[in-house]
Amino acid sequence: MRHAHIAGVAHAVPDRIVTNRDLEKLMDTSHEWIVARTGIEERHWVEEGEGTSDLACRASREALNRAGVAPEDIDLVVVGSLTSDYFFPGVGNQLQDLLGLRTVPSFDIKAACSAFIYALSIGDQFIRTGQADTALIVGAEVQSTALNLSTEGRDMSVLFGDGAGAVVLRATEEDRGILSTHLHSQGKYLKELWCEAPASRFHPRLSVDMLEAGRQYPKMNGREVFRHAVNRFPEVIEEALQANDLTLDDVQLVIPHQANLRISQMVAKKLGLGMDRVFSNIHKYGNTTGASIPIALSEALAEGKIADGDLIILAAFGSGFTWASAAIRW
Ligand code: COA
Repeated sequence: MRHAHIAGVAHAVPDRIVTNRDLEKLMDTSHEWIVARTGIEERHWVEEGEGTSDLACRASREALNRAGVAPEDIDLVVVGSLTSDYFFPGVGNQLQDLLGLRTVPSFDIKAACSAFIYALSIGDQFIRTGQADTALIVGAEVQSTALNLSTEGRDMSVLFGDGAGAVVLRATEEDRGILSTHLHSQGKYLKELWCEAPASRFHPRLSVDMLEAGRQYPKMNGREVFRHAVNRFPEVIEEALQANDLTLDDVQLVIPHQANLRISQMVAKKLGLGMDRVFSNIHKYGNTTGASIPIALSEALAEGKIADGDLIILAAFGSGFTWASAAIRW
């Protein structure tokens, strides 16, 4: 049956590295606290003027190169991102121009940390139905410019990083590629992890009063997010396995969204899976939201952790709440 396989993967991060020690100079925090609670040692943050589309473009060009696909062959662009350069339009539209693509459909999916799997699923559906033969699927974020870098914002600002990852999907009839995707959402928890402004509910969307009250900064109830994440990750991984009549023994590598090392460790424990089969690079990048899974996939490939024929599971959980998984035969 016609479906999508991943023909090329690449990632890009800003040059600037911000260590935990650097953050100690900005707020009352410590390298030891951050490593113990999250596993994060450093992250990459953009320089002034660098946008999500710049990172997305770099990752996309390299993914096209690795796939051996020319820009004119792309039929669809889907970008998973919360942080488009501008309020509108989205990064997808910018990529269409920056990469010199035909006037193909291009749009953004705002599903927070699950956005890359949502975008991958959309690309797979376009390919399964014959609407596209080749799709560019991107996860790209600049979170650093949204953060409150004072002590008041420390619970959030130590967690997040910037980056982008891109994959090129191509149609195949072969017995490999994306086997299935599983997407979920539960909006009643939206205020557990959200950013209120700028908001179309208000006129103007962002006022001096709102800025003074800090309503432009993302907010999170960390414990509540943690509690849901450690249940939803195993649940959605099991869902992907059951849909394909597989068990964890068939899986070579789980690539979870890089939210927090402690979440990944607890998920691995719940599933009875060794950490050698759960990919982690959060120590280098922090949580890059929609970009974390394609960055991790790109690094897992570069490190030789995925071979032809391997079964890999992608899984994510984040703001919305949204959660998702994908089963892929490499
Ligand atoms: N540095 C130092 N101390 C900090 C801090 C920081 N960056 N951030 C918070 N603290 C303090 C708190 O103020 C609190 O102090 P108090 O006890 O004096 O009140 C203490 O550390 C404990 O805070 P708490 O929020 O209860 O810590 P926690 O154990 O829940 O860990 C998270 C906080 C954010 C690491 C944790 O809740 C978490 O990982 N949640 C999931 C987050 C996540 O992955 N989100 C993205 C999902 S996609």
